[in-house]
Amino acid sequence: MKHVMTTDASVIDLRRSQLEDARVRALDRRRALVTGAAGFIGSRLVEALLSKGHEVVGLDSFSHYYEPEVKRANIAASLRDPRFSMVTDDLATVALDSLLDSVQMVFHLAGQPGVRTSWGASFATYVRQNLVATQRLLEALACRPIPTVVASSSSVYGENDGSPLTEDAPLRPVSPYGMTKAAAEQLIDVYRRDRGVPVVCLRYFTVFGPRQRPDMAFQRFVDALECDRPLHIFGSGHQSRDFTFVDDIVAATIAALGSPSPVYNVGGGTPASVNEAVALLQQLTGKQGRVVHVESVRGDVYQTWADTSRLRDEVGWQPGTTLADGLTAQIAEYRRQRDLVEVES
Ligand code: NAD
Ligand code: UGA
Repeated sequence: MKHVMTTDASVIDLRRSQLEDARVRALDRRRALVTGAAGFIGSRLVEALLSKGHEVVGLDSFSHYYEPEVKRANIAASLRDPRFSMVTDDLATVALDSLLDSVQMVFHLAGQPGVRTSWGASFATYVRQNLVATQRLLEALACRPIPTVVASSSSVYGENDGSPLTEDAPLRPVSPYGMTKAAAEQLIDVYRRDRGVPVVCLRYFTVFGPRQRPDMAFQRFVDALECDRPLHIFGSGHQSRDFTFVDDIVAATIAALGSPSPVYNVGGGTPASVNEAVALLQQLTGKQGRVVHVESVRGDVYQTWADTSRLRDEVGWQPGTTLADGLTAQIAEYRRQRDLVEVES
């Protein structure tokens, strides 16, 4: 028995060191392409890559899902760094060969987010930004095996029974958005198996923190509290999310490059209900606001909770930021941006 345990341990150690070597080799590379570079998560990723000494090419179409001005502010500091260049173009039509010829790693975050707005006529936009644009990138990558990480989503799972979800759980999305993210994962799988495209998909769980998109819950809640407007909770507020701090997401995204599995969950580890999050925001802002419960929205799942042991065991990643600390940072950034706008006007 003792002998078996020793053998198992040394095999695990050897596998860990091989994985570590593969990751270091991938990260030794110098120049990255980040799609969706001006967005909430992409702009933080660009900054993290620059701070690690890499050169970065950012691609973003500055889509109008929310104010392009917000995206210009997101990327303003990086634009002052000579190691960063920004290409304002559409991934679904841009000439990709010249962009990819100059990079050694790719982070694909461009896409159409938003669960609740994916019904009806806007679905065509989701198909274009999440599927057609991704397929173009995959075709271009098929000619050159550049290690790539793609942003997927917890919304590929749909409803669950309340226990942490492993990556092997069935994909039963309940929103058209979730369906396009699940379809993009399947498309990636086709290109991985048939063309050897080296892509790792990360299923991000509801991301929060500085620069959160203006359509997402916490940014709307902070805005309502700070501007003394009604704060709308969809449904009872008992629905919960495995909220994940943006810099933890960014760290996982960089660490996952060249990792052995095709897909990993990235979640904060301690789910909270919307009511709990609102109570925390009231405490942190020092404002009670006016909380109004409105009808629940189609496409919203009741709860999400990630099992992140695969990412921990194979990549060594663990979440590091609590909900309270992350919300404190988000409120501070909200106030900083508001004060900047006031000074400028
Ligand atoms: P975001 O909207 O802030 O960023 C996406 C960026 O992609 C935008 O700046 C947009 O202009 C750009 N873009 C869209 N279509 C494009 C195209 N065809 N060509 C070039 N640029 C294009 O969203 P985000 O919250 O930062 O999300 C980034 C990625 O992570 C998305 O793929 C999203 O589906 C995924 N994701 C986000 C969350 C979250 O909680 N924020 C959770 C799971 C997955
Ligand atoms: C988020 C992102 O917006 C998606 O792009 C992403 O794919 C998804 O996470 C994911 O994890 O895959 P969501 O969980 O709906 O989607 O994130 P929020 O918009 O922050 O909403 C969180 C909760 O707050 C939801 O239950 C929502 O119903 C609730 N909410 C939102 C309100 O009660 N009021 C609001 O004004 C906004």
